[in-house]
Amino acid sequence: MNRGQDHLILALDVERPADGMKLLSSLGGRLKYVKIGHQLYARGGLPFIRAIQDEGFDVFLDIKLHDIPNTVLMAVEALASLGLWALTLHCSGGRKMLEEAVKAKKRAGSSMYLLGVTVLTSFDNDSWAEVSPGCSLQDALQRRARLCRETGIDGIVCSPLDLPVVRQAGKGLFTVVPGVRPAAIDDDQARTATPQRTIGEGADYIVVGRPIVNAPDRIAAVESISEAIEEGLSWRIR
Ligand code: C5P
Repeated sequence: MNRGQDHLILALDVERPADGMKLLSSLGGRLKYVKIGHQLYARGGLPFIRAIQDEGFDVFLDIKLHDIPNTVLMAVEALASLGLWALTLHCSGGRKMLEEAVKAKKRAGSSMYLLGVTVLTSFDNDSWAEVSPGCSLQDALQRRARLCRETGIDGIVCSPLDLPVVRQAGKGLFTVVPGVRPAAIDDDQARTATPQRTIGEGADYIVVGRPIVNAPDRIAAVESISEAIEEGLSWRIR
Protein backbone atom coordinates (compact mmCIF):
# COMPACT_ATOMS: atom_id res chain seq x y z
CA MET A 1 0.00 0.00 0.00
CA ASN A 2 1.44 3.46 -0.88
CA ARG A 3 1.25 6.57 1.28
CA GLY A 4 -1.62 7.97 -0.75
CA GLN A 5 -3.89 5.10 0.19
CA ASP A 6 -3.44 5.90 3.89
CA HIS A 7 -5.36 9.11 3.25
CA LEU A 8 -8.08 7.76 0.95
CA ILE A 9 -11.54 6.71 2.13
CA LEU A 10 -13.78 4.98 -0.39
CA ALA A 11 -17.46 5.97 -0.14
CA LEU A 12 -18.99 2.58 -0.86
CA ASP A 13 -22.18 4.02 -2.32
CA VAL A 14 -23.58 0.98 -4.12
CA GLU A 15 -27.05 -0.49 -3.99
CA ARG A 16 -26.56 -3.83 -2.26
CA PRO A 17 -24.11 -5.37 0.23
CA ALA A 18 -23.18 -8.06 -2.30
CA ASP A 19 -22.21 -5.36 -4.82
CA GLY A 20 -20.13 -3.71 -2.10
CA MET A 21 -18.26 -6.92 -1.23
CA LYS A 22 -17.61 -7.60 -4.90
CA LEU A 23 -16.28 -4.12 -5.45
CA LEU A 24 -13.98 -4.30 -2.42
CA SER A 25 -12.53 -7.66 -3.33
CA SER A 26 -11.93 -6.46 -6.91
CA LEU A 27 -9.60 -3.75 -5.53
CA GLY A 28 -7.15 -6.38 -4.30
CA GLY A 29 -6.10 -4.75 -1.01
CA ARG A 30 -5.44 -1.31 -2.49
CA LEU A 31 -7.61 0.42 0.11
CA LYS A 32 -7.77 0.60 3.86
CA TYR A 33 -10.75 2.82 4.73
CA VAL A 34 -14.33 2.22 3.61
CA LYS A 35 -17.22 4.54 4.27
CA ILE A 36 -20.66 2.96 4.64
CA GLY A 37 -23.64 5.25 4.20
CA HIS A 38 -27.35 4.95 4.85
CA GLN A 39 -28.14 2.72 1.91
CA LEU A 40 -25.79 -0.16 2.69
CA TYR A 41 -26.33 0.23 6.43
CA ALA A 42 -30.08 -0.10 5.87
CA ARG A 43 -29.67 -3.15 3.65
CA GLY A 44 -26.73 -4.92 5.24
CA GLY A 45 -26.74 -3.70 8.84
CA LEU A 46 -24.22 -5.01 11.33
CA PRO A 47 -23.50 -8.33 9.56
CA PHE A 48 -22.31 -6.38 6.53
CA ILE A 49 -20.08 -4.16 8.66
CA ARG A 50 -18.58 -7.25 10.31
CA ALA A 51 -18.01 -8.91 6.95
CA ILE A 52 -16.04 -5.89 5.72
CA GLN A 53 -14.05 -5.73 8.94
CA ASP A 54 -13.25 -9.43 8.57
CA GLU A 55 -11.74 -8.61 5.17
CA GLY A 56 -9.37 -6.22 6.95
CA PHE A 57 -10.99 -2.86 6.15
CA ASP A 58 -11.46 -0.03 8.63
CA VAL A 59 -15.10 0.98 8.60
CA PHE A 60 -16.32 4.54 8.72
CA LEU A 61 -20.07 4.59 9.40
CA ASP A 62 -21.47 7.77 7.89
CA ILE A 63 -25.01 8.00 9.22
CA LYS A 64 -24.76 11.59 10.46
CA LEU A 65 -26.58 11.15 13.75
CA HIS A 66 -28.85 14.10 14.44
CA ASP A 67 -31.44 13.83 17.20
CA ILE A 68 -32.11 14.96 20.75
CA PRO A 69 -29.05 14.56 23.01
CA ASN A 70 -30.29 11.52 24.93
CA THR A 71 -31.22 9.61 21.78
CA VAL A 72 -27.79 10.28 20.28
CA LEU A 73 -26.14 9.21 23.53
CA MET A 74 -27.96 5.86 23.34
CA ALA A 75 -27.13 5.43 19.65
CA VAL A 76 -23.41 6.13 20.19
CA GLU A 77 -23.40 3.74 23.14
CA ALA A 78 -24.89 1.03 20.92
CA LEU A 79 -22.44 1.67 18.06
CA ALA A 80 -19.33 2.08 20.20
CA SER A 81 -18.78 -1.64 20.64
CA LEU A 82 -18.62 -2.45 16.92
CA GLY A 83 -14.95 -1.67 16.39
CA LEU A 84 -15.73 1.09 13.89
CA TRP A 85 -12.94 3.40 12.77
CA ALA A 86 -15.23 6.44 12.77
CA LEU A 87 -18.84 7.59 13.08
CA THR A 88 -20.42 10.87 11.90
CA LEU A 89 -22.72 13.21 13.80
CA HIS A 90 -24.41 16.27 12.35
CA CYS A 91 -23.23 19.43 14.11
CA SER A 92 -26.63 21.07 13.67
CA GLY A 93 -27.71 18.84 16.58
CA GLY A 94 -25.98 21.38 18.82
CA ARG A 95 -23.59 21.49 21.76
CA LYS A 96 -25.46 19.21 24.16
CA MET A 97 -25.93 16.53 21.50
CA LEU A 98 -22.21 16.54 20.68
CA GLU A 99 -21.29 16.46 24.36
CA GLU A 100 -23.55 13.48 25.00
CA ALA A 101 -22.00 11.63 22.06
CA VAL A 102 -18.51 12.19 23.48
CA LYS A 103 -19.71 11.09 26.91
CA ALA A 104 -21.16 7.86 25.47
CA LYS A 105 -17.98 7.05 23.60
CA LYS A 106 -15.86 7.60 26.72
CA ARG A 107 -18.20 5.56 28.86
CA ALA A 108 -17.91 2.66 26.41
CA GLY A 109 -14.09 2.92 26.40
CA SER A 110 -14.19 3.01 22.61
CA SER A 111 -11.44 4.26 20.28
CA MET A 112 -13.94 5.03 17.50
CA TYR A 113 -13.46 8.55 16.14
CA LEU A 114 -16.44 10.88 16.35
CA LEU A 115 -16.60 13.18 13.34
CA GLY A 116 -18.75 16.30 13.15
CA VAL A 117 -20.39 17.09 9.82
CA THR A 118 -20.39 20.89 9.54
CA VAL A 119 -22.36 21.73 6.36
CA LEU A 120 -23.07 19.17 3.66
CA THR A 121 -20.82 19.56 0.65
CA SER A 122 -23.87 19.66 -1.62
CA PHE A 123 -24.85 23.12 -0.30
CA ASP A 124 -23.96 26.28 -2.15
CA ASN A 125 -24.68 29.79 -0.85
CA ASP A 126 -28.15 29.92 -2.43
CA SER A 127 -29.38 26.54 -1.19
CA TRP A 128 -27.90 27.34 2.22
CA ALA A 129 -29.73 30.71 2.41
CA GLU A 130 -32.97 28.86 1.79
CA VAL A 131 -32.65 26.74 4.95
CA SER A 132 -30.68 29.18 7.15
CA PRO A 133 -31.69 32.74 6.28
CA GLY A 134 -29.57 35.34 8.09
CA CYS A 135 -26.62 33.05 8.77
CA SER A 136 -23.93 32.83 6.12
CA LEU A 137 -22.51 29.44 5.21
CA GLN A 138 -19.06 30.64 6.29
CA ASP A 139 -20.38 31.70 9.68
CA ALA A 140 -22.13 28.37 10.20
CA LEU A 141 -18.95 26.52 9.28
CA GLN A 142 -16.85 28.49 11.69
CA ARG A 143 -19.28 28.14 14.58
CA ARG A 144 -19.76 24.42 14.01
CA ALA A 145 -16.04 23.72 13.75
CA ARG A 146 -15.51 25.63 17.00
CA LEU A 147 -18.31 23.64 18.62
CA CYS A 148 -16.61 20.39 17.62
CA ARG A 149 -13.38 21.56 19.24
CA GLU A 150 -15.09 22.69 22.42
CA THR A 151 -17.11 19.51 22.88
CA GLY A 152 -14.25 17.03 22.39
CA ILE A 153 -15.22 15.73 18.93
CA ASP A 154 -12.21 14.11 17.23
CA GLY A 155 -12.51 15.35 13.68
CA ILE A 156 -14.53 17.36 11.20
CA VAL A 157 -16.09 16.56 7.84
CA CYS A 158 -16.13 19.55 5.48
CA SER A 159 -15.90 20.49 1.83
CA PRO A 160 -12.47 21.10 0.26
CA LEU A 161 -13.21 24.78 -0.22
CA ASP A 162 -14.10 25.17 3.47
CA LEU A 163 -10.90 23.54 4.67
CA PRO A 164 -8.95 26.72 5.55
CA VAL A 165 -11.83 28.11 7.66
CA VAL A 166 -12.51 24.78 9.35
CA ARG A 167 -8.85 24.09 10.10
CA GLN A 168 -8.55 27.47 11.73
CA ALA A 169 -11.75 27.26 13.83
CA GLY A 170 -11.33 23.58 14.62
CA LYS A 171 -7.60 23.67 15.36
CA GLY A 172 -6.24 20.35 16.56
CA LEU A 173 -9.06 18.27 15.04
CA PHE A 174 -8.41 16.10 12.02
CA THR A 175 -10.24 16.73 8.77
CA VAL A 176 -12.10 14.37 6.47
CA VAL A 177 -13.05 15.88 3.13
CA PRO A 178 -15.65 14.61 0.64
CA GLY A 179 -16.54 16.38 -2.60
CA VAL A 180 -13.11 15.62 -4.04
CA ARG A 181 -12.96 15.23 -7.79
CA PRO A 182 -9.94 14.20 -9.89
CA ALA A 183 -11.20 16.49 -12.69
CA ALA A 184 -14.28 18.54 -13.45
CA ILE A 185 -17.24 16.17 -13.05
CA ASP A 186 -20.69 17.67 -13.13
CA ASP A 187 -22.79 16.11 -10.36
CA ASP A 188 -24.58 17.17 -7.16
CA GLN A 189 -21.43 18.16 -5.26
CA ALA A 190 -21.29 21.95 -5.27
CA ARG A 191 -17.96 22.69 -3.57
CA THR A 192 -15.29 20.44 -5.01
CA ALA A 193 -11.50 20.39 -5.50
CA THR A 194 -8.84 17.98 -6.71
CA PRO A 195 -7.10 15.46 -4.38
CA GLN A 196 -3.79 17.31 -4.84
CA ARG A 197 -5.20 20.62 -3.71
CA THR A 198 -7.27 19.14 -0.86
CA ILE A 199 -4.40 17.16 0.64
CA GLY A 200 -1.91 19.95 -0.13
CA GLU A 201 -4.07 22.31 1.91
CA GLY A 202 -3.90 20.01 4.90
CA ALA A 203 -6.84 17.56 4.73
CA ASP A 204 -5.99 14.39 6.66
CA TYR A 205 -8.32 12.14 4.65
CA ILE A 206 -10.31 12.54 1.45
CA VAL A 207 -13.56 10.68 0.76
CA VAL A 208 -14.15 9.62 -2.83
CA GLY A 209 -17.20 7.75 -4.05
CA ARG A 210 -18.49 7.96 -7.60
CA PRO A 211 -15.16 8.79 -9.28
CA ILE A 212 -14.06 5.29 -8.14
CA VAL A 213 -17.36 3.39 -7.97
CA ASN A 214 -18.42 4.46 -11.48
CA ALA A 215 -14.97 4.30 -13.06
CA PRO A 216 -14.57 1.88 -16.00
CA ASP A 217 -11.32 0.69 -14.35
CA ARG A 218 -11.61 1.05 -10.57
CA ILE A 219 -8.10 -0.09 -9.78
CA ALA A 220 -6.72 2.54 -12.14
CA ALA A 221 -8.97 5.14 -10.51
CA VAL A 222 -7.75 4.23 -6.99
CA GLU A 223 -4.16 4.28 -8.14
CA SER A 224 -4.38 7.60 -9.89
CA ILE A 225 -6.16 9.22 -6.92
CA SER A 226 -3.50 7.78 -4.58
CA GLU A 227 -0.78 9.26 -6.75
CA ALA A 228 -2.58 12.61 -6.71
CA ILE A 229 -2.69 12.39 -2.89
CA GLU A 230 1.06 11.74 -2.80
CA GLU A 231 1.58 14.78 -4.98
CA GLY A 232 -0.57 16.81 -2.56
CA LEU A 233 1.50 15.53 0.39
CA SER A 234 4.66 16.73 -1.33
CA TRP A 235 3.11 20.20 -1.85
CA ARG A 236 2.62 20.47 1.91
CA ILE A 237 6.28 20.45 2.79
CA ARG A 238 7.40 22.83 0.08
O1 C5P B 1 -19.65 10.16 -4.84
P1 C5P B 1 -19.00 11.22 -4.00
O2 C5P B 1 -17.50 11.24 -4.12
O3 C5P B 1 -19.65 12.58 -4.17
O4 C5P B 1 -19.31 10.75 -2.49
C1 C5P B 1 -19.11 11.58 -1.38
C2 C5P B 1 -19.59 10.86 -0.15
O5 C5P B 1 -19.36 11.70 0.99
C3 C5P B 1 -21.06 10.52 -0.15
O6 C5P B 1 -21.17 9.24 0.46
C4 C5P B 1 -21.71 11.58 0.71
O7 C5P B 1 -22.83 11.10 1.41
C5 C5P B 1 -20.58 11.91 1.69
N1 C5P B 1 -20.61 13.24 2.31
C6 C5P B 1 -20.64 14.40 1.60
N2 C5P B 1 -20.67 15.62 2.24
C7 C5P B 1 -20.62 15.67 3.59
C8 C5P B 1 -20.55 14.47 4.33
C9 C5P B 1 -20.52 13.26 3.66
O8 C5P B 1 -20.65 14.37 0.36
N3 C5P B 1 -20.57 16.85 4.20
